[in-house]
Amino acid sequence: MLKYCIILGTRPEIIKMSPLIRACEDKQYDYFILHTGQHYSYEMDRRFFEQLELLEPKYNLDVGSGTQARQTAKILIGIEEILLKEKPDVVFVQGDTNTVMAGALAASKLHIKIGHVEAGLRSFDRNMPEEINRIIADHISDYLFPPTEVSRDQLLAEGIDGEKIFITGNTVVDAAYQNLELSKRHLNVLDDFGLKPKEYFLVTSHRAENVDVKERLSGILEAVRQLSQKYQIPALFPMHPRTEKMVNEFGLSLEGITVSKPLGYLEFLQLEENARLILTDSGGLQEEGCILGTPCVTLRDNTERPETVTVGANVLAGTVTETIISCAEKMMNNTASWKNPFGDGDAAVKILEFVEGKQ
Ligand code: UD1
Ligand code: UDP
Repeated sequence: MLKYCIILGTRPEIIKMSPLIRACEDKQYDYFILHTGQHYSYEMDRRFFEQLELLEPKYNLDVGSGTQARQTAKILIGIEEILLKEKPDVVFVQGDTNTVMAGALAASKLHIKIGHVEAGLRSFDRNMPEEINRIIADHISDYLFPPTEVSRDQLLAEGIDGEKIFITGNTVVDAAYQNLELSKRHLNVLDDFGLKPKEYFLVTSHRAENVDVKERLSGILEAVRQLSQKYQIPALFPMHPRTEKMVNEFGLSLEGITVSKPLGYLEFLQLEENARLILTDSGGLQEEGCILGTPCVTLRDNTERPETVTVGANVLAGTVTETIISCAEKMMNNTASWKNPFGDGDAAVKILEFVEGKQ
């Protein structure tokens, strides 16, 4: 039997790896979870293991926060030690964080096979640390799992061998389908916040290139404030710790915006499904809005999820207040429905089948 190592480190990786972890459990596979500790606050980390009832990580490197190089280096050193000891046959990484790049690099130098979940995404913006992480991870992986034809074609265009590539859809769909009903059965988060369906904006922003730049962050906050005032509906902003830190550092006002701590995934799915509009710079939220039928305004100049824009679920607005407001108005009047381009919710099972077939 093959031995698998599932590497994760941040909120979206825990969520998007959860279907793969569940599939390994169902099939009673030999696997273990290696957590880098890139995210560590309760509401960014442990809460998801509890809510999703996931097996505890066998290892946690506790690397914490740091500069790009420090964080990456710590992860690289920690992972190498564990891989040497555990000798898994295949390592899985998901997405584009520092955890992914360092995990893939450590495995590649030890000649351990790497499966990259959510391969082939490109923003074509090398200012983003994530773009560098994705490109490196893709080019050293042995099995690449692009969610769509768009991402598959990108990998082929970069010269990656088609034999290594398998379109699976995105595990974000598996996770949403597996957990939405569960969420509805156990929670009513709208009541907790005093919100009515389709009568609130849901906002998140955490990208370094937005929240670390005062002008961009204040452009976003001002747009949210004005939209909430104009339409007389609340704007709920569950705030990433990075954003909270930068709001304080820049001394920006949050008046007119309902700010909360980051929320659990089960709560968040309900909030996304019932929002009038999502405004975000998150990758996962662009996908989930598209899957759950809620229009999205992306607070960025580019996206590595162009499928969401093509189907009409998403629009790129950047961070200038007036542009965000006009994009929001356009999307609020968008009554069209679209087909989710990210698959049927069976990505995790397809990933494991492909890897087994290659042995
Ligand atoms: C990271 C990923 C990003 C991903 C995001 C998901 C990289 C380069 N970035 O960004 O791609 O979209 O995770 O949320 O890998 N902090 C806490 N508690 C935590 C985690 C972070 O307080 O549990 C604060 C710290 O002040 C830290 C800052 O947030 O310095 C940034 O954390 P970091 O993991 O470096 O980057 P993210 O912005 O979270
Ligand atoms: N999410 C959550 N609680 C929140 C905000 C987001 O559970 O308060 C979930 C969301 O449903 C999605 C994921 O976190 O699955 C997105 O993570 P994030 O925006 O941090 O990272 P990105 O997707 O941009 O890498």
